[in-house]
Amino acid sequence: MKIHVEAAEDQALVAKFLEADQGHLFDDWETLDSLQKRRLLDDLNRIDLGFLQQLIRDHLGSDPDHPPIATPAPPPMIELGDPARSLATQEGLSALSKGEIGVLLLAGGVGTRLGHAGPKGSYPLLPISGMTLFQFFAESLLRRQKEVGAAIPWWIMTSPSNHEDTVSYFQEHDYHGLSSADVTILPQEELPVIDPRRGRILRKGPGQILFSPDGHGGAIRLIQRHAEDFRKRGIRHVYTHQVDNPLSPIGDPELVGLHLHQGSQFSSKAVSKTDPDEKVGVFCQMGEHLRIIEYSELGDEERHRRDSDGELSFRAGNVAMHVIDLDFILGDSTGSSPALPMPFHMAQKQVRHWLDNEWHEEEQPNSLRFETFIFDVLPLAKHAIVVEAARENEFAPVKNREGSDSPETSRQALQRLWANWLEEAGHSVERDSEGLPSRTIEISPRIIGDAQQLAKHLSNMELPAEGPILIQ
Ligand code: UTP
Repeated sequence: MKIHVEAAEDQALVAKFLEADQGHLFDDWETLDSLQKRRLLDDLNRIDLGFLQQLIRDHLGSDPDHPPIATPAPPPMIELGDPARSLATQEGLSALSKGEIGVLLLAGGVGTRLGHAGPKGSYPLLPISGMTLFQFFAESLLRRQKEVGAAIPWWIMTSPSNHEDTVSYFQEHDYHGLSSADVTILPQEELPVIDPRRGRILRKGPGQILFSPDGHGGAIRLIQRHAEDFRKRGIRHVYTHQVDNPLSPIGDPELVGLHLHQGSQFSSKAVSKTDPDEKVGVFCQMGEHLRIIEYSELGDEERHRRDSDGELSFRAGNVAMHVIDLDFILGDSTGSSPALPMPFHMAQKQVRHWLDNEWHEEEQPNSLRFETFIFDVLPLAKHAIVVEAARENEFAPVKNREGSDSPETSRQALQRLWANWLEEAGHSVERDSEGLPSRTIEISPRIIGDAQQLAKHLSNMELPAEGPILIQ
């Protein structure tokens, strides 16, 4: 195959891919215009071919990821109501006020199940104002900054496919009142998707490489790539949250405080599973280390096992809120320990792609992608903790368009929570048999983050006698 390119570095690039048995990427070369040719070469240039070939060699023909061999045990968990928690919250607030804690939002997912046009964070969730997830987080962060009297830097991890839209969103909305100097939007890395039989790089159309993001573990890789940024701002620990859970308490002073108090390297919130078949990963103790085991990897017996009080033994469900010690993942600042490596997993997915001059749209998974998981670093921690969170206060994910974990269930969870706060603040709330208030409630996260703050705010204002209740 002869591909004509002028520049010496382009010639070398093309030769490298031809030698690596990836010549099919140039099948449509003659039909591409000069801009498309340039784009293809730029995409090829982004691929670390040696690294990709190593991943392909390691994974093709190997079994899918094995369940861990050791026997899991339920992990120790700091339970709700533990007296250590409120003391720790003070410690967390103090670390936040000293500027030692950064916040990282994971917003690089594709959000296929929700099917919203645009980044998932631009989904209008709130029932009265139509406030988006991004605005909800930004305003919650403004409130937290006010509580601690200091700026709290926020990193937002996008992926190349939603990066520009996310940047424009924040510019157009003036960062929802945050200082732009405190918001850093960075894309995670992408890797090419490959064909499962021969390891050929797939294309999403003639001359266009099919890439996919490197998974939520990309957050660790992103911190490692931008370590200087984090260090320069004086950050020592990072709180991570996901774009699909509006209830994650941003910068969570309680989790931060427990993490610091216990000298933990990786701390996580967990909600108690009540249904053995709920499809969330669970925290397990494996020998000396903690680990998250996928729902499907836990045996039937363990999944259904119950403690003497009737609670599920393996109930600590992962809700992806963590506090991570930077020295742990970066290697310490003296350089005496190296940055943690992130293992790659292989996922099979069905995707429409262009190969051998035709579209492929099989019903079966027809592609392999490589991804990393943020919790893969957990078993490497010398000390890690799991802290129980009340599901109704901290977890209301927006994953699916309809049904469970959808915008509707997330809004309902917010309604129930805000109704609880109103009741705690001394107001009666009429509810239906499912606990949903009869009047729509919305409370601005910019000013109120819990029942005490609401009670204080309401001491200066009257609630409307009827209709929706908007407190802002
Ligand atoms: P999900 O596993 O729910 O994936 O991500 P998703 O891409 O958002 O949605 P589906 O599966 O296509 O419907 C959980 C969290 O991890 C982030 C997501 O943005 C979300 O906050 N994530 C996931 C990343 O930041 N990068 C990734 O590569 C994957």
